[in-house]
Amino acid sequence: MTNIAVMVSGGGTNLQALIDAQKAGKIPHGQIRLVIASNDRAYALQRAEKENIPSAVIRHKDYPVQEEFDQKIVDTLHEYQIDMVVLAGYLSILGPTMIRAYEDRIINIHPSLIPSFCGKGFYGLKVHEEALKRGVKVTGATVHLVNEIPDGGRILKQKAVEVKEGDTPETLQRRVMEQAEWILLPEACEELAERIAETE
Ligand code: GRF
Repeated sequence: MTNIAVMVSGGGTNLQALIDAQKAGKIPHGQIRLVIASNDRAYALQRAEKENIPSAVIRHKDYPVQEEFDQKIVDTLHEYQIDMVVLAGYLSILGPTMIRAYEDRIINIHPSLIPSFCGKGFYGLKVHEEALKRGVKVTGATVHLVNEIPDGGRILKQKAVEVKEGDTPETLQRRVMEQAEWILLPEACEELAERIAETE
C-alpha cells in the first residue's frame, strides 16, 4: 500500500475529490495518510478532519529559510512514512531539498493545458483570467511531476475543457475543476501509487 500525503492551501476541492475517489475504491494502491496545509485557515483542513485524516500546518513564514522549510516538510512526511506527495491547490514554493527527497514522487494539478498559462504567478483565478483575456476556445487541466521549475515537470495527464461564451474566471474555474481537475488528479494519484507499490 502506498502512503500518500496531500498538500493544500485553500478550499480543498481537489483533496475532496481524492477522498471521494478513495472511498469509491478508485485508489486501490494508495491510502491518504496525511494532509499538510501551508496555512491554518485552509478549509481543506476541515475536510481532512471530517475523514479523520491526520494533518499538519507548516507555514513558510515560520521557516523563512527555504532549506529549513523544506526540511520541516520532509521530516513530517518521513514521520508518517509517506511514499508520495500530491499538491492539490498548494501555493508555497518547494525547494530542492523537498523535491530531491521525493524525486519523481510529487504530482501537481495545474488548471490549464501546460505549457499555456503556467509558471511563476499563474495560480488560481489568475490562470483563467489570462485564458479569457487571450480568448482561447479550449483550456483544461494538467497533472505533472514536480521538479525545480514551477509547472515544469514531466506532463502525466491532461484533459481539455471548452470555454463558453460569457464565461467569467469563476465560471471557467468551476468547469475546469468539475470536468478536468477532479477527474485527472485521482487517476494520476492511483497510477503513481501503483507504480510505487510495484517497486516496493
Ligand atoms: C484551484 O484553482 C485549482 O485549480 C488549483 O488550486 C485551486 C484551489 O484548489 N489546483 P482546491 O479547491 O484547494 O483543491
